[in-house]
Amino acid sequence: MWKTAIEDAIDKIRNNIAKFGDAYPHVGQQGRYSGLLNANQEWTSGFWPGMLWLAYEYTKDPLFRDAAVKKVESFSNRLRTNDSIDHHDIGFLYSLSSKAQWIIEKDEAAKELTLKAADKLMTRWRVKGQFIQAWGPLGDKEQGGRIIIDCLMNLPLLFWASQTTGDDSYAKAAVIHAEKSRRYLVRGDDSSYHTFHFDQESGEPLGGSTAQGYRNGSTWTRGQAWGVYGFALSYRYTRDPLYLETSKRMAKYFLRHLPEDQVALWDIDVPSDPVPYRDSSASAIICAGLLELIELLPSDDIDRDELQQGLERSITSLMTKYATIGNRDSEGLLQHGSYSVRGGNAPDDFMIWGDYYYLEALLRLERGMKGYWYES
Ligand code: GLY
Repeated sequence: MWKTAIEDAIDKIRNNIAKFGDAYPHVGQQGRYSGLLNANQEWTSGFWPGMLWLAYEYTKDPLFRDAAVKKVESFSNRLRTNDSIDHHDIGFLYSLSSKAQWIIEKDEAAKELTLKAADKLMTRWRVKGQFIQAWGPLGDKEQGGRIIIDCLMNLPLLFWASQTTGDDSYAKAAVIHAEKSRRYLVRGDDSSYHTFHFDQESGEPLGGSTAQGYRNGSTWTRGQAWGVYGFALSYRYTRDPLYLETSKRMAKYFLRHLPEDQVALWDIDVPSDPVPYRDSSASAIICAGLLELIELLPSDDIDRDELQQGLERSITSLMTKYATIGNRDSEGLLQHGSYSVRGGNAPDDFMIWGDYYYLEALLRLERGMKGYWYES
């Protein structure tokens, strides 16, 4: 059932290798990635190598491996030269590039590079406040006390580093950060803040806000999806049932607030007039996250059917209404993602992470393949 969509995606990845060359796709511009390629400097640069590794695992065609290995070399340079790496997204970057290579090939150099990346992420651990600072330099007036929900997807890098080295300091930081995220980013009705602020000196909680959502108290849909997948992964590593429960509750909130065609609006609280932009990438993330969550749930969990049906409806809608299946010239896989609607930055285009999670979900459904967030 998923095969046509997968084969179509693999063909597009194959075509894009030549089109993108040494550069990296980020978001589309007028329906093309090639107008906005960058030089491995964005938080999104890991998703393209992640897609290359997935394509290699699925096809075993060395063309994909060769392209992915070249990308890992570029990630080695990026860490060595400290280029655009002063943020928390190091988990996204290195899980899908060098950690993927380690998982697939047990390449020692890739493992060492990934461990260095984990050390780099730890430089954002704030001892006084006890959290991982998302953006900006230490002590920054605006950003110094800020955490964001997306960071849950960066924690697997730290959990993995502890597993790999036996040094539990990475996992300890990850657990404290996950717990703080659960307590302060997730609200009582299972919706979420995009970001939350703490006093930098005392660690005292100050309040929630948004960067990409509709307003400070709204639920930015992609953030909710990051929470679903991220808490499921925190459970995968820690087996603390609170994280499984949090992922599940956030997933139900997400699914119960979908529009009729089952693909997310960019913010759950955005007014319906004028018709809001969709964020298909949030739906792609939640499909991949639901697959993880459902695998972890006890077989008699009372919410299993609701989640399973939500997954099937979402992935079917993505495939039939949003995917570019059959359009051979398209560079992207999923139309109608949004990066930053209020910021006017790619409010309706391809998002490379949407493409990545869509492919990850399809390959898990078809072959039981997983992404590169943990070693299985
Ligand atoms: N992690 C940034 C975003 O989801 O836009």
